[in-house]
Amino acid sequence: MLRNTLIKAAKESGKLMKEYSTRQFTIDSKDSINNLVTEVDHASEKLIIGIIREQFPDHYILTEESGDLPKNSNTKWIIDPIDGTVNFANGIPICCVSIAVEQDGEVIMGVVYNPFINEFFYAEKGKGAFLNDGPIQVSSKKSVSNSCLVTGFPYKYSEGQGMLETFSSFIKQGIPIRRLGSAAIDLCWVACGRFDGYYEFFLNPWDSAAGFLIVQEAGGRVTDFQGNAYSPYQEKIIATNGLIHDELVGWINNTK
Ligand code: IPD
Ligand code: CA
Ligand code: CA
Repeated sequence: MLRNTLIKAAKESGKLMKEYSTRQFTIDSKDSINNLVTEVDHASEKLIIGIIREQFPDHYILTEESGDLPKNSNTKWIIDPIDGTVNFANGIPICCVSIAVEQDGEVIMGVVYNPFINEFFYAEKGKGAFLNDGPIQVSSKKSVSNSCLVTGFPYKYSEGQGMLETFSSFIKQGIPIRRLGSAAIDLCWVACGRFDGYYEFFLNPWDSAAGFLIVQEAGGRVTDFQGNAYSPYQEKIIATNGLIHDELVGWINNTK
């Protein structure tokens, strides 16, 4: 039932994003001028919460736009109704809905759905990771110097102290590094082997929780900048194919 509800919520929300994208919608700024929220973020979030509440009225919910909706439950849904809102608001088809289920403090299911290119990533703890029902796995690159990397930047420069030094260190070495604008998609693209590594200096739980499990179940590794085990509540995240992990952790710590 958890799985069905998770999949239904993501599919319905993706459908809604696609419908809204063909018409006009309102766009507002949040705490900084480039931190946008559209009426679609709110509509998507409302739809997802409604679908969850129908089946599980007593579960805890944490979402980007509504914050904590606490309940005395060991199950928490962690929701980003649109990850990549700046892309979405500009008609760039690199955005998604991201929903994770945390049980007893552990992420056990996650989905990341980009309806614009029809990519539905799903993972369940201990059961593997999938893209549109086909199993996925991380890449087999063994060193940072021949890797293809991806990163993201926070809305406020002050939240990413050191990020430009780190970013430029890869550019100086001629290492390809991309910035797509959706942390959840960045993580999923590590999971399916398009990227070998990803890092970001400032994330929220809803950006990383589902993508974390998808990377882990695809055979990759996700930690904080010290190499400690992942938690959705860490701001600094490194995700890799596992093989380049220690090297990337060292690289970031030596340049930031
Ligand atoms: C943002 C995106 C972006 C990342 C930012 C996030 P939003 O989420 O994931 O790639 O660099 O840190 O805040 O605002 O589009 O949901
Ligand atoms: Ca986000
Ligand atoms: Ca968002």
